[in-house]
Amino acid sequence: MSAFDQLNALLQEIKSAHPQNAEELEQFRIRFLGTKNVIKPLMGEIKTVPNEQKKDFGQLINRTVSAAEAKFNALKAELEAAAEDSDAQHLDLTAPGEPLELGSRHPIAITMNRIVSIFERIGFVVADGPEIEDDWHNFTAMNTPEDHPARDMQDTFYLLNSTEMLLRTHTSPVQARTMTSQQPPIRIIAPGRVYRNETVSARSHCQFHQVEGLYIDEGVSFADMKQTLLYFAKEMFGAPKIRLRPSFFPFTEPSAEMDVWIGMDNERNYRLSKGTGWLEIMGCGMVDPDVLEMCGIDSKKYSGFAFGMGIERQALRLYDIGDIRYFFENDVRFLRQFASAM
Ligand code: DAH
Repeated sequence: MSAFDQLNALLQEIKSAHPQNAEELEQFRIRFLGTKNVIKPLMGEIKTVPNEQKKDFGQLINRTVSAAEAKFNALKAELEAAAEDSDAQHLDLTAPGEPLELGSRHPIAITMNRIVSIFERIGFVVADGPEIEDDWHNFTAMNTPEDHPARDMQDTFYLLNSTEMLLRTHTSPVQARTMTSQQPPIRIIAPGRVYRNETVSARSHCQFHQVEGLYIDEGVSFADMKQTLLYFAKEMFGAPKIRLRPSFFPFTEPSAEMDVWIGMDNERNYRLSKGTGWLEIMGCGMVDPDVLEMCGIDSKKYSGFAFGMGIERQALRLYDIGDIRYFFENDVRFLRQFASAM
């Protein structure tokens, strides 16, 4: 058989070939496209072909190789598509799904959300401020000038040795941020993280959370504050009554500490209230007129009240947790216990 005939025979074979699976396709590849393929030896035959036929012979070689490549690529795509189809056929729609790990809310977030939603129900809106705060909003606007001894109670972390920028020691600067950016009526609730330079122990931490409240309008009185806080105590603790004890905060006048009545009818409440029946929850008071003026609000026209409470202490009591540090350790064995409290 001449080299021409042999090539034509190979070309026919390529055209009619139809490998049925990956193995047969691989044999096709080795035979026609592998390093020792059957077309290669025929290429060398070009020297035996008469000169006037060399061009035709060369073209026939090229056509044969291209046909082999085209066939291989087409068949490969066909087999891959078929494999995908059969995977789809084996999909069992009744099989149980992959189990999805469900997270849970952090107990601090649960407690904060509860407090916020109680106040939202009576028209308070959530306000926000930065954790890296400046001296003016954190202290000065809260009526605590640089030489004021009240600053000692809230030592904090200053940034890059600057005395201007600090980690906020309470959520009260959100009061100043709100009052300097909007006029009354103001009714805000501001949850967030705060920092103090304190030794970490079972009872105290250098970071914790607070919720702040502020209500300013014309003719707001101490009675309005008392009634609002009583509503909160009932919703949050089911407490029938509250007690306001005189206290001092630089930014309120008069100032008070609010206790809720949890009673002493069981051992737990006796212990939580140290045998008094009262549980201390928050600081509060009428906003000092100097604070209103510093923040650009006319203290002759407007008055208001403010309150602030720590979250960790409440959550410790609510969930009977023995150590404040658990809240910040991110141990899922601890956090998982609150999954149902969402
Ligand atoms: N900022 C106070 C603190 O961290 C708590 C506080 C007391 C906030 C009285 C208030 C308030 O808004 O009226 O100790």
